[in-house]
Amino acid sequence: MQIADTGTALREILKSAPRPCVLVPTMGAFHAGHLALMQQARALAGPGGTVIVSIFVNPIQFDRAADLAAYPRPLTSDLAACGEIGVDVVFTPAADAMYFPDRSVSVTESLLSRHLCGASRPGHFDGVCTVVLKLFLLTGCDTSIFGEKDFQQLAIIRRMVRDLDLPVEIVSGPTVREPDGLAMSSRNSRLTPQQRQDAPRLRQALLDAVSLGSVEAILSSARAAIEASPLTRIDYLTLVDAETLQPISEILRPAVLAVAVFYGEVRLIDHASVAPA
Ligand code: PAJ
Repeated sequence: MQIADTGTALREILKSAPRPCVLVPTMGAFHAGHLALMQQARALAGPGGTVIVSIFVNPIQFDRAADLAAYPRPLTSDLAACGEIGVDVVFTPAADAMYFPDRSVSVTESLLSRHLCGASRPGHFDGVCTVVLKLFLLTGCDTSIFGEKDFQQLAIIRRMVRDLDLPVEIVSGPTVREPDGLAMSSRNSRLTPQQRQDAPRLRQALLDAVSLGSVEAILSSARAAIEASPLTRIDYLTLVDAETLQPISEILRPAVLAVAVFYGEVRLIDHASVAPA
């Protein structure tokens, strides 16, 4: 396994890398969800292809300095996990190797990012699109894999690829969950034992609500179930069209019930699909 910590070093390594090149962009602090994406990448690249994993806690996608500072960075164990899975190249740049101090160009998606996480995290998806485009350009990857857990991120990346004619195939991986249903996230480790015990209710609230039929019934059932816990504060709870991510008032096409809640300072997201009757 080769490790590069600058764009120049990465390009040098990848010059002679056998195709296809499959990229898994991450911010590190691996859990089983990340590992599943890497295994998927290994299978897609085949034994002869190249799997690249980037580990970069991207400062420009954090809207809260405290969240950036608290983000875990267990690089040694992350690298060991990459080695075990058979990743070929790991890219681990420092922030100043990725961004000039006077950088003035970024990518803005202006429609799908208006709602959900985009509404409560201004600038977040500009930061995501900008770093992902840079990673595509630095690696020249043929395929890149993203988790369905961050379904708004996945939809926005697909839109960026479509609108900018990027020659990268986007593949998605299913959400990996804890045995009690909580979606795996590097933030779960910041929950107190009491909050961690409470958190699976989020998933259950969504699953119980999605079969209720009307938009009003779905939203009020999920809201009541989530607010029944004194430990959480809802950031958003929204029913959106699965493709456009715009809020809907009638379920005529596939939709998604999406939620973000705070447990103290820790923000968790989850979602469930809603099929039209
Ligand atoms: P990060 O949160 O580290 O996630 C890296 C990838 O793992 C993303 O594609 C995310 O959707 C996926 N993932 C996270 N939890 C998952 C789970 N429980 N099951 C399956 N996949 C999961 O998302 C980012 O980093 C960043 O925004 C990034 C795309 C790297 C840009 O900086």
